[in-house]
Amino acid sequence: MVKRFGPVTAVGGVSFEVRPGECYGFLGPNGAGKTTTLRMICCTARPTSGVLRVFGLDVRRHPRAIKGRLGVVHQGVTLDEALTVRENLLVYARYFGMGAREARSRAEALLAFVELDARAGDRVPKLSGGMQRRLMIARALMGDPELLVLDEPTTGLDPQARHAVWDRLRQLKRRGVTQLLTTHYMEEAEQLCDRVAVVDHGRVVAEGTPQELVHRYVGREVVEVQAADGAAAVVAEHLASLADGCEVAGDRVFLHTQDGEELVHRVRVLGLPVEGVSLRRATLEDVFLRLTGRRLRE
Ligand SMILES: Nc1ncnc2c1ncn2[C@@H]1O[C@H](COP(=O)(O)OP(=O)(O)OP(=O)(O)O)[C@@H](O)[C@H]1O
Ligand SMILES: [Mg+2]
Repeated sequence: MVKRFGPVTAVGGVSFEVRPGECYGFLGPNGAGKTTTLRMICCTARPTSGVLRVFGLDVRRHPRAIKGRLGVVHQGVTLDEALTVRENLLVYARYFGMGAREARSRAEALLAFVELDARAGDRVPKLSGGMQRRLMIARALMGDPELLVLDEPTTGLDPQARHAVWDRLRQLKRRGVTQLLTTHYMEEAEQLCDRVAVVDHGRVVAEGTPQELVHRYVGREVVEVQAADGAAAVVAEHLASLADGCEVAGDRVFLHTQDGEELVHRVRVLGLPVEGVSLRRATLEDVFLRLTGRRLRE
């Protein structure tokens, strides 16, 4: 599918399929087109061209039917600040034509699920950022969705709150809820996602399980070299040919290799302007940097 805003191509032609019951990660730098893609899936933006089916239904012809079967957690906080925690859920239930009694019992169950039952009577501004995120997840679940779409569900959360959200998302997966999420936290994608797509400039540049992508694009180990101030380019130039891959981010040079110990030894004996060398296992973050480059976006 393609999405243009006037002269701006936000999504240049992405193609992917999310299987029932899986957690699918949509990863990419700022401005890559993630939110725009999710908005098309949620039927709040129309594709400019291409084909997009959700639950096998065409988004152009069946937006209402699709919206009734999915839950959305938006990138920004979109709660009603004038209402209490509980009221935010009850108001939302009306979109699904849910009866008052059912809405009430569902709201109580979901508040317990996200551990906000003690705050049910508080207005939204009294909640911390992490609590607001959890409330947004509860709200997205009010309609008992088959597909949960989450646009950066844990941005700005502390480690405890992030783990709490991960735990809830895992529980939902066990119950068979399909999940499509974006995140800038590669550890989050590794923890939660069965498969991920890396998107850049509105196109999918790689797809697979996190482990497959690590093997395919980085290898087993990464030697991280802290270059002396301003020396990263020179250091990278000397070391690139010794490794399977080489990425620079700021003053750090990342060398991809199958045999880290040997490479660490060689870096040490070369006498380059280097302040430190360390060895670690390759991660999805290395894949991301390799595929989407080193420069900051927008
Ligand atoms: N309503 C709009 N009108 C014009 N341009 C838009 C609109 N929405 C998005 N864009 C542009 O489309 C591109 C993709 O934006 P999008 O929000 O989808 O990126 P993203 O991958 O979600 O980024 P981030 O990680 O920062 O949330 C950007 O260049 C953005 O400026
Ligand atoms: Mg976004």
